[in-house]
Amino acid sequence: MLFLGILLSIFIQDVVTSLRPLPPGIMDCVEAESGCEADPQCKELYSTLRYCVSEEEVAPPGSKARIECLEALSALHYLPLLACKCQRGARREEHCLRVYWSVRILQSYEDLEASPYDDSPVEMSHMASIVAAASSLPLDGQNACLKAAQDCGLYEKCGSLRSEYVLACTKRVPGSDHCNRQKCHRALRRFLERVPGEYSLGLLFCPCTDKLCGERRRKTIVPSCSYQERDGEQPNCMHLQSSCRRDQLCRSRLADFQHNCQSSGHSPSGCFRDSGTVCLKSYAGLIGTIMTPNYLSNSTMDVALWCNCEGSGNQWKECLKIQNMFTNNACLENSISTMGSSPPRPVESLLPPSPRPSPLDQQNKLSNNAQDELSNNAVLKHQLSTVAQPCCHSSVATALLPQLCCHSQTHSGG
Ligand SMILES: *[C@@H]1O[C@H](CO)[C@@H](O)[C@H](O)[C@H]1NC(C)=O
Repeated sequence: MLFLGILLSIFIQDVVTSLRPLPPGIMDCVEAESGCEADPQCKELYSTLRYCVSEEEVAPPGSKARIECLEALSALHYLPLLACKCQRGARREEHCLRVYWSVRILQSYEDLEASPYDDSPVEMSHMASIVAAASSLPLDGQNACLKAAQDCGLYEKCGSLRSEYVLACTKRVPGSDHCNRQKCHRALRRFLERVPGEYSLGLLFCPCTDKLCGERRRKTIVPSCSYQERDGEQPNCMHLQSSCRRDQLCRSRLADFQHNCQSSGHSPSGCFRDSGTVCLKSYAGLIGTIMTPNYLSNSTMDVALWCNCEGSGNQWKECLKIQNMFTNNACLENSISTMGSSPPRPVESLLPPSPRPSPLDQQNKLSNNAQDELSNNAVLKHQLSTVAQPCCHSSVATALLPQLCCHSQTHSGG
């Protein structure tokens, strides 16, 4: 009976916390990994890659090891694995991310083409319209951030997860005068992952006209615990970034932010990708990692990381680049100041997703879509070109056939 109860509660929990499915054609990386491991050849190549990753964590690979890793990567043709994605807040998110990065062992950190996460345009445009509607309501001089907090309180899930993180971020570790930052981060992430965007983004980006409201907005994520150092010293941004890159989750959230908040002078939103809402969601994804950004003060909407570039030496420019992702980013600025409102999309894109097809259908669709994905996917093209680079500085066309390319180079002694 007890066993049944436990089973049932696991089941219920699973349903309650289940996330929307990934779009057809994109598999979750955990699933893709199982698919690969069911095939002996794929399994072997993949375990070589996993080995490469674990080696790389210790030290940069030697040239022989590097070539072996490259060969395994270029021989891996299992599309679901190459095109798989993860979901923020999923139960096995970290495992999923590990899989995602293990088939991208040589992708540069500067690569803005790829995000491990997939945000469906339907959900995003739905959220954008709600956020836009909410932000256009007249406030009659009311404190918008107070109003957002009240709205959150009226929705049980928002209110309770918010209390959870406020408690986690303000509670002192017994016998000390500081909080447990890891617990605070975990609780902040849970809040941002589980609460619908219209509430959480409403709280994070509420529009203010006075300092009282601005102060409330700045303190929303409990800065004293979530990022400020106890001694008040800011870390160097390069150090912050390298610690972030050593952490699967932080690295992924950062890649997602860079991908979705890329600026463009050619679009009215200031964003390279069309919707500013995706940028806001990605920005929110960084909250609760060691790269938690926040408002600089209670009088503007300017945001920054809690770090500086003092003592960066010859890496000063690199360091400024990190700061500028937040302080000098037109896409992010516009998205925050317009609260994610974006031009309304065609009505049909606001319809809920069609019911999930049968697993068999999905299987068939998957291979077709993955094939499409692969042929159109700049991510993979780029990845393959990165792969090919060490042996041949070729054009993208030949880079798509890294095996041929590398081998002909090897044979011709180039
Ligand atoms: C706004 O920030 C300043 C500087 O940190 C602080 O002195 C002031 O008390 C804040 N204003 C409000 C209304 O909290």
